[in-house]
Amino acid sequence: MMNARILNPKPKAKAKRLVGNREPLADNIPKARIIEGLPLGNLGGSAIVCKGKMDGRDEPVALKMSRDYIIESRNLLEEELEKSIRLSRILPNAASYYSMVKVRYEPDRPAFAMEIVLGYPILDTNMDCIDAGRLRKLFNKGAIDQLGASLEIASSKGWHTNDLQYFVLLEDQVLNGKSFRRGDVILFDFCDWHQKMDGIRPDFSAQIDNLAKLIHGIR
Ligand SMILES: Nc1ncnc2c1ncn2[C@@H]1O[C@H](COP(=O)(O)OP(=O)(O)OP(=O)(O)O)[C@@H](O)[C@H]1O
Ligand SMILES: [Mg+2]
Repeated sequence: MMNARILNPKPKAKAKRLVGNREPLADNIPKARIIEGLPLGNLGGSAIVCKGKMDGRDEPVALKMSRDYIIESRNLLEEELEKSIRLSRILPNAASYYSMVKVRYEPDRPAFAMEIVLGYPILDTNMDCIDAGRLRKLFNKGAIDQLGASLEIASSKGWHTNDLQYFVLLEDQVLNGKSFRRGDVILFDFCDWHQKMDGIRPDFSAQIDNLAKLIHGIR
């Protein structure tokens, strides 16, 4: 009789876990739960944004959650939150950003909480896909100046992005402690923003032109 060890000399190596390196989050981060199954938005590539509640806040929040559990995604989301908090303190038109949260039933999924914006999301790089005729009516007269003023401040501190995203507000709303009107512009998704320290002021004129073209219907 043949020896079983010869037929099967080595035990199979343990299969690699495809979900990546799940790591339990620290216990001291606030807990949150999803209160609406449908995502608030799903335009972007790397995240899912849902309506939720978080410990310590009465009003609902927006939860930005990674699509996967890998440690790199957690690092990126933490970095994004840190940039968002810094930018929301200098930009005149941004929501409030709160903290990383531990989502109920999804304790290992990286996520952070922020204020919900009642707006129509616009990706500067994707303007051709927008129903410009309908949107044009929504923008406030001063929307271009508003965006210009905000980007001027960002640029003066060295901030830039090639992936500018903003909402046009669908109703009057208080955000980050300030009152805004329907048609105002609110910047969001600071994932791809970066701050240069070389003293050269980043230029946002192309992005402002894009909004001007959208509003004035110039193609
Ligand atoms: N604070 C918010 N309030 C309401 N809806 C939001 C908020 N933040 C994001 N959304 C919605 O979720 C969508 C995706 O959000 P976001 O652009 O931040 O993520 P993403 O593009 O998937 O991720 P990333 O660009 O960081 O890879 C937005 O287009 C918008 O519809
Ligand atoms: Mg996005």
